[in-house]
Amino acid sequence: MRPYDIAKPVLFSLPAETAHSVVHTLLETAQGTPITSAMARRYTVTDDRLAVSAFGQDFANPVGVAAGFDKNATVPTALAALGFGFVEVGGVTAEPQTGNARPRMFRLQEDGGLINRMGLNNEGAAAVGERLAATDAPFPVGVNIAKSEHVDTDAAPADYRETYERVAAGGDFFVVNVSCPNSQGFEELQNRAAMTAIFEELQDAGATPLLVKLSPDLPDPAVEDTLDLVTELGLDGVVATNTTTERPEGLRSPNAGETGGLSGKPIEDSATRTVRFVAERVDVPVVGVGGIDSAESAYRKIRAGAALVQLYTGLVYEGPSLARDINAGILERLERDGFDSIDGAVGADL
Ligand SMILES: Cc1cc2nc3c(=O)[nH]c(=O)nc-3n(C[C@H](O)[C@H](O)[C@H](O)COP(=O)(O)O)c2cc1C
Repeated sequence: MRPYDIAKPVLFSLPAETAHSVVHTLLETAQGTPITSAMARRYTVTDDRLAVSAFGQDFANPVGVAAGFDKNATVPTALAALGFGFVEVGGVTAEPQTGNARPRMFRLQEDGGLINRMGLNNEGAAAVGERLAATDAPFPVGVNIAKSEHVDTDAAPADYRETYERVAAGGDFFVVNVSCPNSQGFEELQNRAAMTAIFEELQDAGATPLLVKLSPDLPDPAVEDTLDLVTELGLDGVVATNTTTERPEGLRSPNAGETGGLSGKPIEDSATRTVRFVAERVDVPVVGVGGIDSAESAYRKIRAGAALVQLYTGLVYEGPSLARDINAGILERLERDGFDSIDGAVGADL
């Protein structure tokens, strides 16, 4: 029995967002104390074959924490001590936002999923930027930058720039989130003209490395448009994918009817398909995210073209040993398939 087999029923007896806050508080309490070093010894898999170099950053292993888990950059070091190779903090907006009314996060236990409509609650870019600048992270930290709630499409480029400038000093890479399903006005951002204006403004501000995070709900031609922009503007990477507003057939949980973005197991295959679609079309690194909860599912994303992977929902269902289990399982699979490093496996199925 794993320790999480005991903790999980307790956490699952609480509303999802309360359970998340409890875990966050535990991580905050551990951070900076000898507990973090003990966690790192327990959970870190150290092996040169896991190392990845992407968009100018060195990653000790390819498994990261996806945006949304550490919205305010309060626990990146504690998360890294769970064996993650990188952490993406945020989504961050220019000013603090309270997000949508609670409840706004739901477990789909029978399906291994979550639905959330958080609505980009965060403490704002100034607070997050200061915290990041004071964090000495020996691992890459990405910052997920989102549009402020009441800013319209015309004003979006300046809004993203303001956020970027406030978090710039503490971030190692920057992810432009144009794909949040839970906040006003994001759909209008996902067209060529709007995205060009946003990326050019951020490039003008010096934002690099700069990545774009895709919605799984975009039709293929719209994804192709975005990928053309990636190439034309020289963006550094693509994160695929965000949560979906669609509800695949066969969901069993009573919470499946909640409004919001679906994540976890039910989106695994569609996210992997998007990773493949992207990797076939652009030369930049792809960060694969959606439904990863095991070494096997992480390895599927890697073989489909992901140089790095991320997860959120898997952590809720599998607990703190997940990054270790994935990294150990990836090493076994690299050996089995005769690859000397992750590099060899990236895109092996293309
Ligand atoms: C509660 C919650 C909040 C999230 N917040 C953000 C966010 O602020 N910005 C973002 O780009 N993605 C956000 N995401 C999406 C995740 O980063 C990820 O793309 C998605 O959940 C799919 O991965 P998973 O199946 O491993 O959870 C959030 C996801 C969840 C479950």
